[in-house]
Amino acid sequence: MRTEQPQVIYLKDYQAPEYLIDETHLTFELFEDHSLVHAQLVMRRNPERGAGLPPLVLDGQQLELLSVQLDDQALTAGDYQLDADSLTVQPKTERFTLDTSVKIHPESNTALEGLYKSGKMFCTQCEAEGFRKITYYLDRPDVMSTFTTTVIAEQHRYPVLLSNGNPVGDGPAEDGRHWATWEDPFKKPAYLFALVAGDLWCVESEFTRQSGRDVTLRIYVEEENLDKCDHAMVSLKKSMRWDEEVYGREYDLDIFMIVAVNDFNMGAMENKGLNIFNSSCVLARAETATDAAHQRVEGVVAHEYFHNWSGNRVTCRDWFQLSLKEGFTVFRDAEFSADMNSRTVKRIEDVAYLRTHQFAEDAGPMAHPVRPDSFIEISNFYTLTVYEKGAEVVRMVRTLLGAEGFRKGSDLYFERHDGQAVTTDDFIKAMEDANGADLTQFKRWYSQAGTPRLAVSEAYDAAAQTYSLNFRQSCPQTPDKAEKLPFVIPVELGLLDADGNDLPLQLAGEAEAAGTTRVLSVTEAEQTFTFQGIAAKPLPSLLRGFSAPVKLSFPYDRDQLMFLMQHDSDGFNRWEAGQQLSVQVLQELIGQHQRGEALALDQRLITALGTVLGNETLDAAMVAEMLSLPGEAYLTEISQVADVDAIHAAREFARQQIAEQLFDALWARYQANRDVSRKTAYVAAAEHFARRSLQNIALSYLMLSAKPQALEAALEQFEHCDNMTERLTALAVLVNSPFEAERAKALDAFAEHFKDNPLVMDQWFSVQAASTLPGGLARVKALMLHPAFTLKNPNKVRALVGAFAGQNLVNFHAADGSGYRFLADLVIELNALNPQIASRQLAPLTRWRKYDDARQALMKGELERILASGALSSDVYEVVSKSLA
Ligand code: TRP
Ligand code: ZN
Repeated sequence: MRTEQPQVIYLKDYQAPEYLIDETHLTFELFEDHSLVHAQLVMRRNPERGAGLPPLVLDGQQLELLSVQLDDQALTAGDYQLDADSLTVQPKTERFTLDTSVKIHPESNTALEGLYKSGKMFCTQCEAEGFRKITYYLDRPDVMSTFTTTVIAEQHRYPVLLSNGNPVGDGPAEDGRHWATWEDPFKKPAYLFALVAGDLWCVESEFTRQSGRDVTLRIYVEEENLDKCDHAMVSLKKSMRWDEEVYGREYDLDIFMIVAVNDFNMGAMENKGLNIFNSSCVLARAETATDAAHQRVEGVVAHEYFHNWSGNRVTCRDWFQLSLKEGFTVFRDAEFSADMNSRTVKRIEDVAYLRTHQFAEDAGPMAHPVRPDSFIEISNFYTLTVYEKGAEVVRMVRTLLGAEGFRKGSDLYFERHDGQAVTTDDFIKAMEDANGADLTQFKRWYSQAGTPRLAVSEAYDAAAQTYSLNFRQSCPQTPDKAEKLPFVIPVELGLLDADGNDLPLQLAGEAEAAGTTRVLSVTEAEQTFTFQGIAAKPLPSLLRGFSAPVKLSFPYDRDQLMFLMQHDSDGFNRWEAGQQLSVQVLQELIGQHQRGEALALDQRLITALGTVLGNETLDAAMVAEMLSLPGEAYLTEISQVADVDAIHAAREFARQQIAEQLFDALWARYQANRDVSRKTAYVAAAEHFARRSLQNIALSYLMLSAKPQALEAALEQFEHCDNMTERLTALAVLVNSPFEAERAKALDAFAEHFKDNPLVMDQWFSVQAASTLPGGLARVKALMLHPAFTLKNPNKVRALVGAFAGQNLVNFHAADGSGYRFLADLVIELNALNPQIASRQLAPLTRWRKYDDARQALMKGELERILASGALSSDVYEVVSKSLA
């Protein structure tokens, strides 16, 4: 908890460390009521910092110091200074060895940072600054050391003892205990340290590297989960092969381990050779995990594996550089998933997510650049901006340099910086040097916050046969109040003729056309590009593949959008045209609702969706994506003032109309796909994901009709399917339906069947928390009393509280403020238990500026109440205080 005024840390204050650690030797003695950590650090003065021997200030928090020794001299209380965050000693020589012993309490660590217990096992989470809760250390990523780790624990309770690197010895110890020693030869920062001790079982496999050497692969889980590891293992092997083929990167140790733990603050962690995963991101089998969960497992396994190069071999100099590893690695895992499944569908999902959530962050009080300039609590900066927008920035580099140039740049980056802790500038420099490119202006993407707007207008000159596109870019103000300079915005585009064919593109001044889709670099505040040889006015297809994370506007009318939906050669933009059409139609309905008029849906939306639904040659996953209306959260994000009730009413009205008017087509496609599902055993592969996604969205529309045959279909699917994808959708449509008896029966049957599987129970909680039927808050409060619920487990908090505040907007934003009060109470309680989770759950309240005056006052009131509630963690303090500023 915070004791003094929280300190702001600035990038501009960065200084290299005064001392370095060459070798770290750790011994852990694990007991039930405490643990002991002995650290021997082989250290030296950092030659970069010049002569002299300044005091050595080691980070340490919540440690009980038992002894300190400098070389062979035991230090006594007068020889060192101790405060809540550090231990200071005075070195006498340039090279020395420091020995410390501390006592810690993993058994009562509910923050899940440092060494803690998840159920019966010990595990660690050190990123970003958790290692200082384990021992005194230079806990910063530019201090890189080899590690030798010995773990000693009771043999019976903790038969498996793991740490980073290779196993080098083990044996029995006194009192029924045993030990194991691990050695990691690769220098690494402390945030990549890991230790696991528990009664674990493992699935083992082998991978043969391109170079011919074998690696042992192990996934460690509790015994009952041994049957849920195959998908992660297959995903791991695919990732290893892909990184060899696409980036030329091989794995470097002889063993690679993944451990699944139930209590984990985030998705997973890339600790060297010993990744620790939230069990939700490893365990998957047909009966218990949805298609989305299978794809998430594949993506997260890949992400953490890819970090071995983008993060571990080349790491971050300081935490302001977080996107160096996270943006790059998200980009890498997205491309991997695109190669494994449907590329267009993956892009659609990522862009929808970015535009809904990252754009909202970029427009809110916590907005920050991809490389932040300052922070109070680094845990608050594991954000959508650093991860997702950071990935978009890397994608733009590739778009600008081309795939080959990008690969040259990444080769140079890995070769030049292997074993180093570097910056985003170093990354860009490698890209520039390998390509002879100048990315100076491009780097503004790293330093300027806010989502750029790009307003596009057109002019056709029939006499000259030229077509001009004018681009005007601007970037809204963000809390840093900094002046915004123009970005480099790569705009991939095409021009369609009246038949929907792409025209050859020849810019004024060019001797001939070069392709039918090209990338224009918009670098000025205002800029015009003119195409020549254009015989008739074309229709532009702009920002194909979402080539830049901007808000583009072009005055399309609805007929033009319908034309693009059918004809655009870019699959992403076909979907995008449908979204824009839906947004226009929904905004019209929102206006009608606000004026108290009867709602009237533009029939063109029905026509357009009917065409999509009837197109049997279109990828089923694309049909499903195109049938999905923009979400309420996205409609909120694009509103000046979000009218929660009008948005909900408008969207539900449109869905109802679609369900009624397209009932027969939906029914036909539902039955055809359900029929295949009935006859085919579950397979976790793209074409099957596609089929089930169409089947399931069709079912959710059909159910809105409330016709008896729809209810029958939902019940049949619920009872007779062989997989969680079909079962959970059937449950969700029942939960949101007016059929009370069937809903209750299905919920009970589901809970009875899956009560011993915490990950499935999370889904059961979520489906109910997200139900927009009236009375949502009361249902959530009742579920919090369910025996399977606990605030101590982050997955449970996300499943119930996160789903309620993030997905159930009408109930969360109830006009009486009850949802806000509930969330604030929860944040206050979580603040004491788990500050990282408390701070993340706060996000919906920080968006208060989006709502009407009455709601603004209620939301602000709750933020003020949190601020006044007493000892706040730095995590919660930073978010609350910045939101109120
Ligand atoms: N580096 C992790 C990743 O792959 C992020 C992470 C895992 C993390 N656990 C954490 C960050 C706890 C902060 C706190 O993205
Ligand atoms: Zn990561």
